[in-house]
Amino acid sequence: MELNKKTNIGVLGAGTMGSGIAQVAATFGHHVTICDTSDHALEICRNNLRKTMDKLIEKGKVTQSKADDVLFNIIYSTDLHSLKNCGLIIEAIVENLDVKKTVFSKIEDVIPNDSVLASNTSSISIASIAGGLKFPERFIGLHFFNPAPIMPLVEITPSFITEIGLTQKVKQLVSDWGKIAVLAKDTPGFIVNRIARPFYSESLRILEENIADIATIDWALKEYGHFRMGPFELMDFIGHDVNYIVTETVFTQFYFDTRFSPAITQKRLLEAGLYGKKTKRGFYDYRDGATQPQPIKDETLGRYIIERVLAMLINLAYDSLYLQIASKEDIEIAMTKGVNYPKGLFAWAEEIGLENVFNTLEKLHNDYGEDRYRPCLALKNALKS
Ligand SMILES: NC(=O)c1ccc[n+]([C@@H]2O[C@H](COP(=O)([O-])OP(=O)(O)OC[C@H]3O[C@@H](n4cnc5c(N)ncnc54)[C@H](O)[C@@H]3O)[C@@H](O)[C@H]2O)c1
Repeated sequence: MELNKKTNIGVLGAGTMGSGIAQVAATFGHHVTICDTSDHALEICRNNLRKTMDKLIEKGKVTQSKADDVLFNIIYSTDLHSLKNCGLIIEAIVENLDVKKTVFSKIEDVIPNDSVLASNTSSISIASIAGGLKFPERFIGLHFFNPAPIMPLVEITPSFITEIGLTQKVKQLVSDWGKIAVLAKDTPGFIVNRIARPFYSESLRILEENIADIATIDWALKEYGHFRMGPFELMDFIGHDVNYIVTETVFTQFYFDTRFSPAITQKRLLEAGLYGKKTKRGFYDYRDGATQPQPIKDETLGRYIIERVLAMLINLAYDSLYLQIASKEDIEIAMTKGVNYPKGLFAWAEEIGLENVFNTLEKLHNDYGEDRYRPCLALKNALKS
């Protein structure tokens, strides 16, 4: 199946990601069918897309006639048969393997045998979804970031049974949509959700050890790392219901490698229903009139925090390269375009000196005696070369 502007696109799931992906495809000019089991979800999606286009008109980013075209290009349905003429179907439903497999097997009964199937899953293996299909070679991972119309990155993940050539076709299409596509191996968390884990988990560790409080850790990473948001602000923004589950999934899928350990503190917030901004309470209190904690702006402490978190991030970037999860170039692109890091981690490592990164990890490794801090082989090799 050729993939081009004339390809009808199906989007399964009218939630946060599905509506964003539909907007991207419809803006490029595709006819898009959004299919969801819930009439209510479809109604919300339709209203939100209309509001989004109105805002874009107001800001002068699109003309009225372009906005009309985009909205006209999208149809909404609760019936899977509405996807029967789609050449590419992108699934963005609940993050549950059994549900995804069931729905894909139903879709296969209504679509042509050469239509392409893709999943926007953040953490489920592409092979495990493809494994249940009649034609698993037409299946691929297509991981957009939230909000899909704004975030430029898309991770493309073929499984080991994906047809040779499909990856390139999908990559071309996604690039035509104005996205930046990177290739990731079918491993837990792909690129971004794997390498970014220590940004949260090492910060949580520093908090749990009472080395610094949330406001100070957030301040340190913004002040000395130039991250746009601190880890606690970002976890609250993403929501602990999403962020904790991704951490736990990556941890269990990597056979409990302690570099990915989740933190009890975050789990407790999740258990208490304090998801962050969306529930008005998380690490921070977002209720009206709440007082906010103030950072202790101590340079020595701040530099210790950034060095520790950054060393862990860089170690995972080298490890991901070593395990061929992605190319060096794609890892740099993924971390700067998928999670807005101020620099690529390899470039950052060069800037602060590989030896310094290695020494930070070695010291942590010796002090704690924990495998979590082991410098990876690729980092050691890079240091020697
Ligand atoms: N939210 C994010 O930041 C984000 C980022 C990247 C990837 N993802 C992934 O995208 C997927 C969707 O996430 P989301 O945040 O958009 O979820 P969401 O909860 O906002 O939306 C999911 C939608 O799927 C619908 N749905 C559930 N079961 C269905 C079925 N069997 N058939 C049709 N529709 C069904 C629900 O009614 C709902 O409207 C997940 O796999 C998630 O891991 C999410």
